[in-house]
Amino acid sequence: MNVLIDSRTIHNAVVRAAREVSERYRDKPVLLVGVLTGSFVFTADFCREMTIPCEVAFMSASSYGNSDVSSGDVKIKLDLDRDLTKYHVIVLEDIIDTGNTLSRLAACLSRRSPLSLEVITLLDKPSRREADFEPDRSLFTIPDLFVVGYGLDYAEKYRALPFIAVM
Ligand code: IMP
Ligand code: MG
Repeated sequence: MNVLIDSRTIHNAVVRAAREVSERYRDKPVLLVGVLTGSFVFTADFCREMTIPCEVAFMSASSYGNSDVSSGDVKIKLDLDRDLTKYHVIVLEDIIDTGNTLSRLAACLSRRSPLSLEVITLLDKPSRREADFEPDRSLFTIPDLFVVGYGLDYAEKYRALPFIAVM
């Protein structure tokens, strides 16, 4: 296993992003939404680097395959219990690959009329994109490699690694 992004580099990028977000949303009600399971480490670190108060919640979703009749929709396995019309919602995702999951999840959240909605992803693999979807901010753009660590798994393993590694 080779280290692709070390923990110090991740930490610096998370601090920079959280500070920038904190300045932009000063005096505004912010809800950070982590997408389980992969974003649990990113969300925990990000919320602790915010310099303004914010609420934190989690969602879990899976996109239907292209062959499914429900394609274009997302299956929400764990939903939010908040009224989004009261919040500026910032979705925190671990990695955007084809973009199918996040494009559908973002559309679903948008229909709930949040004050605003943005998507921040730790990692972006733009070379694999299928859906017409771009995050508002990505901390690292990576090539088409399968990565683990810092919340990301391979068959539920390696999530606790403090760095991002290539299998
Ligand atoms: P997509 O953007 O809908 O293709 O799905 C993204 C999801 O696939 C992520 O949230 C991860 O759960 C998973 N995923 C994609 N690429 C990787 C990877 O390199 N390592 C671990 N999980 C990945
Ligand atoms: Mg994910």
